[in-house]
Amino acid sequence: MNRAVRTDYRGHLKHVLSATQDEFDREFLNHFCDLTSAIRTKYGKKQDDLIKMKGWLVGKRAMLYFTQPSTRTFISFVSACQMLGIDVVHVQDPNVSSSVKGESELDSIRTFSSFVDIIIMRSPISGLAVDAARHLDATKRPVPLINAGGGTKEHPTQALLDLYTFDRTWRKQGRIDNKVIVIVGDLRDSRTVHSLCYLLRNYRGIELRLVSPPELAMPREVIQFLKAVKWEHESDQPKIVETDDLDAAVDGADAVYLTRLQKEYKDEEIDIDYSRFALRPVHLETPRKMVILHPMPRGPELPPELDADPRNLIWRQQRNGMWTRTALLYLLLWKMSYEKLMVS
Ligand code: NCD
Repeated sequence: MNRAVRTDYRGHLKHVLSATQDEFDREFLNHFCDLTSAIRTKYGKKQDDLIKMKGWLVGKRAMLYFTQPSTRTFISFVSACQMLGIDVVHVQDPNVSSSVKGESELDSIRTFSSFVDIIIMRSPISGLAVDAARHLDATKRPVPLINAGGGTKEHPTQALLDLYTFDRTWRKQGRIDNKVIVIVGDLRDSRTVHSLCYLLRNYRGIELRLVSPPELAMPREVIQFLKAVKWEHESDQPKIVETDDLDAAVDGADAVYLTRLQKEYKDEEIDIDYSRFALRPVHLETPRKMVILHPMPRGPELPPELDADPRNLIWRQQRNGMWTRTALLYLLLWKMSYEKLMVS
């Protein structure tokens, strides 16, 4: 059957809370990657086009509410807002907000919604974004809310930028289908890899090699979610391998995604030899084009000595964050006719 490809996703996304959301299906993700590329290559280069893009969402306002440290995510969202002409207000230090006077998080967030058109928030509390979005939906100003990292559970916009980085890399090699992706490190508490795995449900024949110390293994809920995926052909089912042997796991891989030890979430003194979960020059002694990703900030698991290798995409990945967030904000706050955007 020759089905028309949907090109207009106005209103498709209400909030961005979790990568498990049904809206993140294959068709949408393909479109999202194409839209990001269109913005990056057709609008984000020349001054005339940048000026045009700055007019798209003039008059809109965004609140960035970040009560946890952030460098990349915060700056890339601010940059994305600037690209689109969105004005930004922000609270980054809870000590300067009314929470010091005992105001509840939900009251603070509802207050923000009185002034802005979108709320982008990062919090150490995993479920806060979902609770806040439900709370806003029950009000007369249910502005969209983006989860820019919630506790140890999810970081859906990082997953979108990681996915876009893969899609861009493998565009001419069947996109992300049938790729072998190694995910390494503190898989228990790294929220980025949970969200990434959730999005990877959309691709056929994926092999995920999850490399971690047993104490820091991928949460069962993520594995169960992937196992519940039902493709028509058995060979398309995701294959999941859990191991603590990085040397064996990188053999024949298409990508390796590293994560740091999330010390801030460990109450206990954790006695793990994390050096076993670091990439070493020996892993790159292969002609294979195994690309390297890391959400950053990095620790010793990805030494800067490996930055010169062209397969190391961490800096491109970071910049992709700005483009994907521009596309996302555009989708959430569209104003002009979609068809006017040239999506390839
Ligand atoms: C990640 C995060 O905050 O979860 N950073 C980011 O947003 N790029 C990864 C991390 O802190 O390890």
